[in-house]
Amino acid sequence: METRPDVFSVLLFIVVLHSVAASPSYSSSSSANLSFTFYAASCPSAEFMVRNTVRSASSVDPTIPGKLLRLLFHDCFVEGCDASVLLQGNGTEQSDPANRSLGGFSVIDSAKRVLEIFCPGTVSCADIVVLAARDAVEMAGGPAIQIPTGRRDGMVSAASNVRPNIVDTSFSVDEMIKLFSSKGMSLNDLVTLSGAHTIGTAHCSAFSDRFQKDSKGKLTLIDTSLNSTYADELIKQCPADSSPSVLVNNDPDTSFMFDNQYYRNLLSHRGLFQSDSVLFNDERTRKQVEDFANDQVGFFESWGQSFFKLTSIGVKTGDEGEIRRSCSATNT
Ligand code: HEM
Repeated sequence: METRPDVFSVLLFIVVLHSVAASPSYSSSSSANLSFTFYAASCPSAEFMVRNTVRSASSVDPTIPGKLLRLLFHDCFVEGCDASVLLQGNGTEQSDPANRSLGGFSVIDSAKRVLEIFCPGTVSCADIVVLAARDAVEMAGGPAIQIPTGRRDGMVSAASNVRPNIVDTSFSVDEMIKLFSSKGMSLNDLVTLSGAHTIGTAHCSAFSDRFQKDSKGKLTLIDTSLNSTYADELIKQCPADSSPSVLVNNDPDTSFMFDNQYYRNLLSHRGLFQSDSVLFNDERTRKQVEDFANDQVGFFESWGQSFFKLTSIGVKTGDEGEIRRSCSATNT
């Protein structure tokens, strides 16, 4: 269950610690109009407030980091990292089936509410989505990354833009490469960012294409690239008559830990989605999967670079877009 952090305790904590808020990094950015000091004068504690909200929400609900990370991916691949995924209403991105299982919205809303009190009209929802995902990874044990800010919020959100821009689990490596490269992302980025599946959960329907019903109505494995013991475990968790709300951990071993276990799972044929398994089965990506499985530091370094690229996709800056007052609706 997603839970909303208590805004007032978050506020109190922020007021007490306001003076010791971490100062922003002053390292340089390669992304043209984004800056590591964007809120240094206008809202110096912006990152601290987001982090605090994510921390408090994740301590109550450990599924939050996975939700926030996936939310970022679905935001950035559709219309760029502009918070278009947060807009509510008929026909917006949220109404596409690929987005129905997204979560973490209430955490973004909580952070925005706090920021609107201390720095009204200043911090974009697009930046909050990025910072929250960045913090979620770190809180789950992943690397700490400096990310520049200054993104502005988009005005467009259409369900019809989702399918052509979001990867499906049935995609081949070729199809994934094509979509990633259309966003300026490399093969290396594809393998690295797929490592996000080291945390979080999936609905049974997300991998049901790997099984079929036999004449007695029982599920049997049809995808022989999957380890049969693991397949049996999945069938136990997701029997043919299971409720559509049943969730399975993406990483069966260290479910809430952001580590390189995802790649070790792939080596032992325990990738949950077909789109995970193919990364080990395809010779173009296998070597990198093996490298990351043996070298968590190498994975974390690569993660920092690929995550940075992900958060730079199609950003709106300067006079583009707006700074929303509420993340779920445009200002007008
Ligand atoms: C490359 C192709 C990818 C495919 C086909 C894919 C597909 C999926 C699917 C089907 C789910 C389960 C959704 C559900 O049933 O609730 C999922 C979960 C997740 N995905 Fe991906 N994904 C991909 C890449 C990524 C990337 C690049 C990221 C982030 C950088 C990401 C982050 C996540 C996370 C964290 C979850 C767990 C969400 C939760 O716990 O609620 N995925 N993904």
